[in-house]
Amino acid sequence: MAYDAGDTANPFGGQPHPRIDGKAKVTGAARYGSDEPVANPAFAYLVTSSIAKGRVTGFQLDAARAVRGYIDILTHENINGEYHTPPPFGGKDGQTTTLESDQVWHDGQIVAVVLAETFEAAREAANKVVVNYAVEAPSATFDSPGTTTEPHKPQSGPDPKKGDAAGAFQGAAVKVDAQYYTPPQHHNPIELFATTCVWDGPHLTVYEGSQFMWGMKNALAKQLQTDPTNIRAVSRFVGGGFGSKGGTRPQTALCAIAARRLNRPVKLVATRDQGFTVATFRAETRQHVKLAASTDGKLVSFFHEGWEVTSRPSGYNVGGVDTTARMYACPNIATAVNVVHADRNTPGFQRAPAETPYMFGLECAMDELAYALAMDPIELRRINDTQVDPVSGLKFSSRSLMQCFDQAAARFGWKNRNPKPASMRDGDWLIGYGCATACYPTNIGPGAARLAITPDGKATIGLAAHEIGTGAYTTVAITVARTLGIPVESVTVNLGDSDLPPIPVAGGSNNAASTSHVAHKVCMEALTKIAAAAVAASDSPFHGADPATLKLEDGALKGPGNRSEPLQKAVGRLGGKLEVYAENIPKGLQPEAMANLYKGMPMMARGSGRKDFTTYAFGAQLVEVRVHERTREVRAPRVVSAFAAGNIINPLTAYSQLMGGAIWGLSAALHEATELDLTHARYMNDNLADYMVPVNADVPSVEIIMVPEHDEGVNPLGVKGIGEIGIVGMNAAVANAVFHATGKRIRDLPIRVEKLL
Ligand code: MOS
Repeated sequence: MAYDAGDTANPFGGQPHPRIDGKAKVTGAARYGSDEPVANPAFAYLVTSSIAKGRVTGFQLDAARAVRGYIDILTHENINGEYHTPPPFGGKDGQTTTLESDQVWHDGQIVAVVLAETFEAAREAANKVVVNYAVEAPSATFDSPGTTTEPHKPQSGPDPKKGDAAGAFQGAAVKVDAQYYTPPQHHNPIELFATTCVWDGPHLTVYEGSQFMWGMKNALAKQLQTDPTNIRAVSRFVGGGFGSKGGTRPQTALCAIAARRLNRPVKLVATRDQGFTVATFRAETRQHVKLAASTDGKLVSFFHEGWEVTSRPSGYNVGGVDTTARMYACPNIATAVNVVHADRNTPGFQRAPAETPYMFGLECAMDELAYALAMDPIELRRINDTQVDPVSGLKFSSRSLMQCFDQAAARFGWKNRNPKPASMRDGDWLIGYGCATACYPTNIGPGAARLAITPDGKATIGLAAHEIGTGAYTTVAITVARTLGIPVESVTVNLGDSDLPPIPVAGGSNNAASTSHVAHKVCMEALTKIAAAAVAASDSPFHGADPATLKLEDGALKGPGNRSEPLQKAVGRLGGKLEVYAENIPKGLQPEAMANLYKGMPMMARGSGRKDFTTYAFGAQLVEVRVHERTREVRAPRVVSAFAAGNIINPLTAYSQLMGGAIWGLSAALHEATELDLTHARYMNDNLADYMVPVNADVPSVEIIMVPEHDEGVNPLGVKGIGEIGIVGMNAAVANAVFHATGKRIRDLPIRVEKLL
């Protein structure tokens, strides 16, 4: 595997390091939510609705009760008083709720939980539960009768707008006016949605894959009407999340209630198909984009309106115009977002929730504009590149978009592209080159951590961060090792336990920035204590020195005049183990951000919400596609992506994360969609056999370039985070390449054979 070694000048970045938890994962020692061995568990199995709209009128339970090992069933009829508050994460304006009443909001809603002595008995009994319904005709998606549409409530300020977009469009020389569509998609993490609940008196321990330990702890406390101190959430490893494990899911509280009733541990694993409806998904979008430019390619008007499907009670939406309006210099901007309520489960975060669909619209429209101008699409982006956020007027803390395009284009061989559509071929295969901009806002949250250094010179750090496959253990270990001047092998990292100090949701690509800063801070506070003791001690080489001049390096405490003492000795002076707790509140957040985090409410300094800079990471994604002249099969033999995301803490795991994003983008562009039965508002391909994803043969070559970028404005360590950006430009890059190959502009995803015939 090749990776760019990146920026080795920065002491907090650049040195590739293998995952410190890699061995535990590949040997099976890493435990996930349903792996926890507990004594004498009962097993829960969900019964989910077979209708999308209506009411439950009753249950026929005789056959279920007759199954050997059957214990009990929870339904809305018998759970009253135990489960009052719907999951709070994801919006105050209502989630689809579960077992609160007889109402059915969507297909696959939990209507009962069967408990039995074994998993098999629970499954058999659940399958024998007959649910009677009063059925109503559901609305499935856009254009279904009975949907309602309303403007969304923007999360952070009004939708971007400036100048007179309509007037400027009317008078412009070159225009694009197009509609785009992105389909519903499901995350499908390999680890199923699984929960193990164990009560000990009033204390509940929950083992469940989660992207937000402290959020789960606090949400469950509300749902179970208990104090958060009674609840411990454990999730040391998460078998994939992609956003689906960021919010609290309804079955978690149901599992806890079941365990309390039975007075024994309960394990609940939602099946793969149930996961399509008891967790969230990426909602389908429609977009209307209007772009206008003068004949030299300079944008004069940008209009972007989106429509997103959501459930009946929730206003959830991703509102990606907040990002698209910031991409290019443009004097006149108008944006809007609408939510379309249908009889569906509530959607949620899925990798770059806002950017992935909305950048598809913008970046396809940019390609269409480049053709209308007879201009190279990379040059069009160069002409409209800007170091200033066009909406707020703030500077970007750094923006290396064109460096990314230049490096990716050189590596890719973009100069060999004949711009004329359908002009390049290899035998029966039409060749297309496409490109698009990728971006992701740089978010950073508060965080807290505990650090212990023992007299043997080893360090242990604890923080309730989340390893969702990204390499979080390793980036924390690297940060501690570099700050304390010790080898990574001397650092033990504890994550994924709400008994540890809180860290925000592992979402919005904030993890690297949030955790590295608090890890650095707690280490610097340890240094302060070590230095204070050293200058005070008469037997120390630093006696009487200014403590601020001391630093930790190469396993030693060092000071001016080549004075040095082994770390072991300097720590030993403190009398046993040195323990430090530290909190970090990033610039721009108020002190209450920490108290709110302890209450399970993360406040972020958001990429487009800061007062000093607008902070984003950028990238350029280039794709070669080959479309068979007669069968119209589409292949994507080459992807080259370049990203500039500030200081890369671990280029090895970053490479993997960025490559994974690019592959998922190929998947979204060419394969993925959750297929809807429009009559029943039901997902039809709710399994991994029918839900199309690429295999190795679909992804021959993905090259990742990490463009060095120093950014002192974004945060003290210059860390931007790369969790999500890798997927963002891929949809448009592929669609643009397909146009170049064939001359056919496909504006609705995925691009399958039938659309090209
Ligand atoms: Mo990510 S979709 O913000 O977990």
